Amino acid sequence: MSTFPLALFVGGGLDACAAPAVAVRLIAAGYEVQVVLTDAARQLLTPAAFRLAGIEPVDTVPAGIPIILCPADEAVGLRLETLPSLGRVAGLGQASAAFPAFAREDVLLAARWLCSPRLLADRTILITAGPTAEDIDPVRFLTNRSTGRMGIALATVAACLGARVILVHGPLALRCPPMPGLETIPVRGAREMHAAVHGRVHECDAAILCAAVADFTPRDTAGQKLKKTGLDELTLPLVRTPDILASLGALSPRPYLVGFAAETHDLERYAQDKLERKNCDLICANDVAAADSGFAVPTNRITIFRRNQPPIPLPLLDKEEAAARILELVAQAL
Ligand code: PMT
Repeated sequence: MSTFPLALFVGGGLDACAAPAVAVRLIAAGYEVQVVLTDAARQLLTPAAFRLAGIEPVDTVPAGIPIILCPADEAVGLRLETLPSLGRVAGLGQASAAFPAFAREDVLLAARWLCSPRLLADRTILITAGPTAEDIDPVRFLTNRSTGRMGIALATVAACLGARVILVHGPLALRCPPMPGLETIPVRGAREMHAAVHGRVHECDAAILCAAVADFTPRDTAGQKLKKTGLDELTLPLVRTPDILASLGALSPRPYLVGFAAETHDLERYAQDKLERKNCDLICANDVAAADSGFAVPTNRITIFRRNQPPIPLPLLDKEEAAARILELVAQAL
């Protein structure tokens, strides 16, 4: 991804003033950015605003270079029409019939979307993410430390690779950026996630189950807030939730199936066991005992297990990069 060339076309709307900061973010992420100012942008910004960041605006860019329009609604115009042939185009801000739009804060995702090879074109991938919430009463629930970051990374990177993505997610601690090809289905508890997954799995070529699904749920959910008056202890009967991964493994035909294994010890033994028992094609085992891997951190250390093949230990990676490595294997297998 580093040193990938990109053009940033700057228009005259309100968001034009944010363009130097946008360019700086792209450069810091390793993109080689060429900035083109429309006449309308020049009324608001001088090239000096970019020179401060070490960027010299240009008048034309090479044919076929991926283009980000900032802001989308204003930058589309004169300069675009003068380009000999357009590369892929994405806008920041307003969506348009001509090109997809991303929120300004998602500029790095827009750049990834523009520059990624379409390894998963024409494929539909179902992904689960986040924790589940198992309700005890109207104000209390059982949950876990998953933020959804790993699952969101898988979903956004898969969409960048050209897949149609169906993301079924529990209550997320993080925002899932809207982007082309990505549909989100919010759910709450494990049973609801199971139903949502089975409602859509027939559309999918692959399913990647990254959610941290509760294994147990309260047998009864109280309709009113439970009162503590007169109680020194409370025993809550719990019952098993459906195992979504195992239920997909039992389908025939079934999609290419990727499971996760969150382990604190004996990673390999438990991952191999899940691969066989839940009838998966691939298991991503993450070491959740390490402080920089697993739940609620931006990085993950994953070992990939497949049937009859040696394990692939990935180094400590940003969750987006770990997702890219997993999805490359999925694309190869499909
Ligand atoms: O969300 P983050 O903060 O980024 O954290 C990411 C993560 C640590 C949650 C993620 O990388 C991860 O490991 N997800 C799976 C966590 C887990 O619940 O593992 P498990 O060993 O309990 O489950 C094994 C597999 O079965 C998983 O694919 C899980 O989605 C699936 N499962 C489990 C129980 C159940 N009832 N249904 C399921 O589908």
